[in-house]
Amino acid sequence: MTIYKARVPTNIAFLKYWGKSDEQTQWPANDSLSMTLDLYTETLASLSPIEETSHALSFRSDQDLAKSPLFLQKGLRHLKFLSENLGFEDALYLQTYNEFPSGCGIASSASGLASLTLAALAAWTGSSSFEELEEKGFARERLAHLARLGSGSACRSFWGGFVHWEKGLYPESQKTHPIFPETHWALRDCVVILSDAEKSMTSTDGHKLASTSPLFQPRLELLGERLLQMREALARCDMNTLGPLLEQEAIEMHELMATSNPPCVYMTQSTVSFLGLLARERMQTKIPMYFTLDAGPNVHVIYEEAYKEKVQDLFKDYKTIDVSIGSGPSLSLV
Ligand code: DP6
Repeated sequence: MTIYKARVPTNIAFLKYWGKSDEQTQWPANDSLSMTLDLYTETLASLSPIEETSHALSFRSDQDLAKSPLFLQKGLRHLKFLSENLGFEDALYLQTYNEFPSGCGIASSASGLASLTLAALAAWTGSSSFEELEEKGFARERLAHLARLGSGSACRSFWGGFVHWEKGLYPESQKTHPIFPETHWALRDCVVILSDAEKSMTSTDGHKLASTSPLFQPRLELLGERLLQMREALARCDMNTLGPLLEQEAIEMHELMATSNPPCVYMTQSTVSFLGLLARERMQTKIPMYFTLDAGPNVHVIYEEAYKEKVQDLFKDYKTIDVSIGSGPSLSLV
């Protein structure tokens, strides 16, 4: 039996995707920009024995399985969608494994859905490389597009370095492309885990509320300018410009969440306290480290590789996952 292994990284958004213009086509309300992380979800896939009629998806460790019924549901729905829409009739047997705890504030749905999509397409088409997939009509851009239909942020995980997901003028004209490779700027993300509880509202439900906030429209109007500023700061590897933009963007997304109807509040008192501590430490130590946030209470501290030891030492009393910028997904045979 041939087993295909897809290893796909997570990503952390610098410019956030929050709110959809159309849910059906997964058309985001705005462009987003992310950094790919060196932290992966691995999915193994093979064709099931002939007599199987439905897909089987499981986690490799019991701990993950217990924590992620929602992911299993979303994953199976996505597999069904892919097989029906692409006309692949073979049932698949898949096993997935996160290199990080589920629900810890790291976007596991991005790497999870992306690795599921990649592994499934590899098994269905009998491809063990991106080149082979492309020959069979599944270039990386198409794979990213298919993964996006499972979870929006998944499309940004198909490249390493810094990735721009363009909204385009209509749903079909969306594009995802890398803007700088991981070698351009050695950034790191120290995720400070303040709570590893499953979040109270999924991102998918949160997106639906975004447009109910009075801050939604004004935000959309200023994002074009912020995108340009971020891209310029990335081009110059300029942390003094990028850092404050990251923080402003993260706080604005959380204000938008908190002012939606009903409100969704992901930050906790520990988040707020930690942000205060980070600002004080930055002033005292002069380490250029800045935060960004996802839909959760945990804090992503973005900083340059040269400060790795200092940052790790600073936060040694916290539970952290500290990773470098990543080089993107891989596909192979087991
Ligand atoms: C806050 O991609 O998880 O992480 O498309 O409904 O699956 P769905 O949502 P998802 O939303 C991610 C939201 C975010 C910001 C971001 O990653 O850009």
